[in-house]
Amino acid sequence: MPPTRLGPCCLAFSGSDGECKESWVSAKEQEPGGLRLRAFLPLLKKAAQGSSSSELSCSKAAIINMSSIAGSIEEIRLSENVQYISYRCSKAALNMLTKCQSLGYRQHGILCAALHPGWVQTDMGSSAGHKPPLTVDVSVQGMLNVLCSLSEKDTGTFLDWEGKVVHW
Ligand SMILES: NC(=O)c1ccc[n+]([C@@H]2O[C@H](COP(=O)([O-])OP(=O)(O)OC[C@H]3O[C@@H](n4cnc5c(N)ncnc54)[C@H](OP(=O)(O)O)[C@@H]3O)[C@@H](O)[C@H]2O)c1
Repeated sequence: MPPTRLGPCCLAFSGSDGECKESWVSAKEQEPGGLRLRAFLPLLKKAAQGSSSSELSCSKAAIINMSSIAGSIEEIRLSENVQYISYRCSKAALNMLTKCQSLGYRQHGILCAALHPGWVQTDMGSSAGHKPPLTVDVSVQGMLNVLCSLSEKDTGTFLDWEGKVVHW
């Protein structure tokens, strides 16, 4: 792995068991990033204030929300017989949260972005007998490279593990 120069970073990860959870309450449970941010925000603001750089970056202070292309309204396709509705809705909401965070926290020097990790060989990615194309190592390495490259222009964007823009 190349050296990564990431500063304070709030990463909102969460799992999902897709169609097993089909209520709005569970969709909320799947995306607790907004709640966790309350604890991290004072630290992110402090880090940004203490940074010598005027540019937004992950080495200064950043909120990176772990989203999914499944939450993209433009990219939605009927996948086999399941639609993962609560999962899609929770990720679309997370994307909106990302945009709102980017608008609200730019003035505090905090970069905000949503990332799609690709289709990855995790418990979730491999559920229902699927064999995803990406290993965890490849996806994580790709995302670390993307994080290191983020700058002012990228706040409020939705990118994949290779740094390509994902449509909202
Ligand atoms: N895998 C993919 O292909 C894929 C594609 C697009 C987006 N994503 C996104 O990437 C993120 C990670 O997914 P994954 O594939 O690694 O899922 P995963 O295999 O289901 O693993 C989820 C991880 O999150 C932890 N977790 C779940 N709820 C949590 C909570 N409330 N608080 C703290 N930790 C919690 C789980 O811990 P325990 O094991 O202790 O329960 C588990 O380690 C998710 O946001 C997912 O939506 C994944």
